[in-house]
Order: sequence, then structure tokens, then C-alpha cells
Amino acid sequence: MENKALVSMATEAKEKAYTPYSKFRVGSSILTNKGVFLGANIENGSYSMTMCAERTAIFQAIMAGCRKGDFEKIAITSDTKQYIIPCGACLQVLSEFCSPETVVLLSNIDEEFQTFKFKDLLPITFDINKE
Ligand code: THU
Repeated sequence: MENKALVSMATEAKEKAYTPYSKFRVGSSILTNKGVFLGANIENGSYSMTMCAERTAIFQAIMAGCRKGDFEKIAITSDTKQYIIPCGACLQVLSEFCSPETVVLLSNIDEEFQTFKFKDLLPITFDINKE
């Protein structure tokens, strides 16, 4: 799948965001070897319980049976002109499943995007499984 198509799917996912508090919608789409999984941010009145778009998407993929090595690309977008960068918590969760080479597409409201590798965003990781 082309990067542009995956970014469009992140925009589509953004429509499902539940953001009554921040009004800041985020969408994410992840291309795996089992297909594409979508996520949006889901807020909660107990603010810290909020789930980010990226984690919603990756948890959907995990529930479909995806595991480390199955993730090819992830796209993230919002309603702003700035390119959305995954928060630290999402990077940690993604690091459990993505490889350093997994492509990360940081996009904006106009579906312009910048292409990174996961290792560009989180070069060293906490990894309890490391030998
Ligand atoms: N948010 C995400 O969905 N992903 C990120 O990587 C950063 C922040 C959401 C959480 C909250 O619903 C809103 O953006 C404002 O912080």
C-alpha cells in the first residue's frame, strides 16, 4: 500500500475520535501483514484514562493476532497543520511491536506527510525482552 493511501486511512480513522474535552482529534492507521488497523483517540472524563489514537490502532492489530515483525507502516494525523508526533507513552508501546525500520508517516490536516523510521523517533528503548 502506498504511503498516501495509508495517510488517508488515518484521516478516516480520525472521524471516529471521541474528544469532548480537548476537541483535538487524532487518527492513526497501521499497515500489517494481516491488513490495516485503525485507531482514534478516546477521551475520558477522568482525563488520564484517555487513550491515544496510536495505541487504539496497535491494540486493534494485536487483538487480530499481529505480533512483532508484522508491522510495516504507521500513519498519524490530526486537524492541525503541524505533523503529529506520537507521545512518549505511544512510542514505548509501539516499540514492543515495531522494528527500528518500521515506517512512520507523520501527517497533517492536509494529508501532507513526513516519512521517518521508528528508530528516528525512539532510537533507544526500554526492552525487558532484550538478551
Ligand atoms: N493524542 C493522541 O491521540 N496521540 C498522541 O500521540 C498525542 C496525543 C491525543 C490525546 C488527547 O485526546 C488529545 O490528543 C490531546 O492531548
